[in-house]
Amino acid sequence: MVVENVKNIVVIGAGLMGHNVAQIALMTGYKVTLVDIKDEFINNGVAKIDEGLKKLEAKGRLGEGVSASDVMGRLKTNLDLTSAVKDADFVLEAVVERMDIKKDVFKTCDVNAPPHCILATNTSTMSITDIATATNRADKVIGMHFFNPPILMRLIEVIAGEKTSDEAMEIGVKVSESLPCLKGKRFVAKVLKDRPGFIVNRLNAPVGIYRSYITDYAYEKGIPWEQIDADTGGIMPMPPYVLADYVGLDTSYHAANYYAETLHPDFKPGKVTTMMIKEGKLGRKTGQGYYDWSKGRPEPDMSKKAGLLDLELIMAIRLNEGCRLIEEGVVTGWKVIDDANMAGMNTPGPFGAGKNNWEKYTKKLDEFVEKSGREYLRPCELMRTGKFVKMKK
Ligand code: NAI
Repeated sequence: MVVENVKNIVVIGAGLMGHNVAQIALMTGYKVTLVDIKDEFINNGVAKIDEGLKKLEAKGRLGEGVSASDVMGRLKTNLDLTSAVKDADFVLEAVVERMDIKKDVFKTCDVNAPPHCILATNTSTMSITDIATATNRADKVIGMHFFNPPILMRLIEVIAGEKTSDEAMEIGVKVSESLPCLKGKRFVAKVLKDRPGFIVNRLNAPVGIYRSYITDYAYEKGIPWEQIDADTGGIMPMPPYVLADYVGLDTSYHAANYYAETLHPDFKPGKVTTMMIKEGKLGRKTGQGYYDWSKGRPEPDMSKKAGLLDLELIMAIRLNEGCRLIEEGVVTGWKVIDDANMAGMNTPGPFGAGKNNWEKYTKKLDEFVEKSGREYLRPCELMRTGKFVKMKK
């Protein structure tokens, strides 16, 4: 199959991610069928797509002479997955993050979709290889990891499972590139190996090990969170403890446990986070986390610093993880990591600064590991030798 033959896309799951992916696929010109398990979920998704398109029409961003209703005219809905995928060329699954449900969905798609159809999953944590075992077409199963919301975040990671064919990857990349993004040019990163966290989430995950160490230390010494936030000097759009509350402590807690199981025990959530989860202090959504959110977003006093948080050490941790991604064969060079981080997180990746500072960063990491015992943060060979500098970008 070639990408020009992709006409009918089925999006499974009309939730936060699914409805938005369906919207951008419609905007490209594909015929889209949106599937969910209840009418109310589908209706909700359709209403949001309609609202989104109407706003764009009003701003003249749907293209010359194109109306929201023209675009909506290409949308169908279906509660029955079996019949929905009968004419599908490409399926994008965005159901809840549960392996048993995803495998059920993939099995149904495999049995009922035409043989040429590519099956893509938007999982943020699960193994593509594992999901593909529910099918008899593992060569046509790919990961297609969007960032939230897909219409505004430029990055899509397209992931190869162990048995994914080059052809399926190519089609996944081309379909991804065809989907519009309102905040600039779409960036598609090829993830060549199915490893936890793919590229961007993996790059930033081990910073959590450091943050957890600092959090437990500060709690023991009675150092207020806002003083650690002040250590960032206001260079971040949201300082770390405000951000942690904003994202939700439960979300980072689950992610930390996932990486503890799949990468290294050092990722296990720390004492303070575990205690706060037990007490139901999940951040913004419960009104209380590190900060009190009952009166809106907290404005920490940034005038007094704790002198605890070392921003260079954070860069060193990310550089080390980026080097590991290269060592593991997830990517073939460093540029895609920096570009993906910019497109997915709106912040620079670690290699720009890392090329000139890797020796200093290596020393910092070694010192931190000696002090903290967090062995996962020990510099890998590629970082310690600086060999990544001479590798192709
Ligand atoms: P959500 O909970 O908003 O939506 C999931 C939808 O799937 C619900 O409407 C649910 O009714 C539907 N669903 C459940 N079982 C189904 C089935 N058997 N058939 C059809 N529909 C079914 O979840 P969200 O946030 O949209 O996440 C979806 C996927 O995207 C997950 O795998 C998640 O990890 C991933 N993802 C989420 C991101 C986020 O920021 N929320 C970012 C990147 C990936």
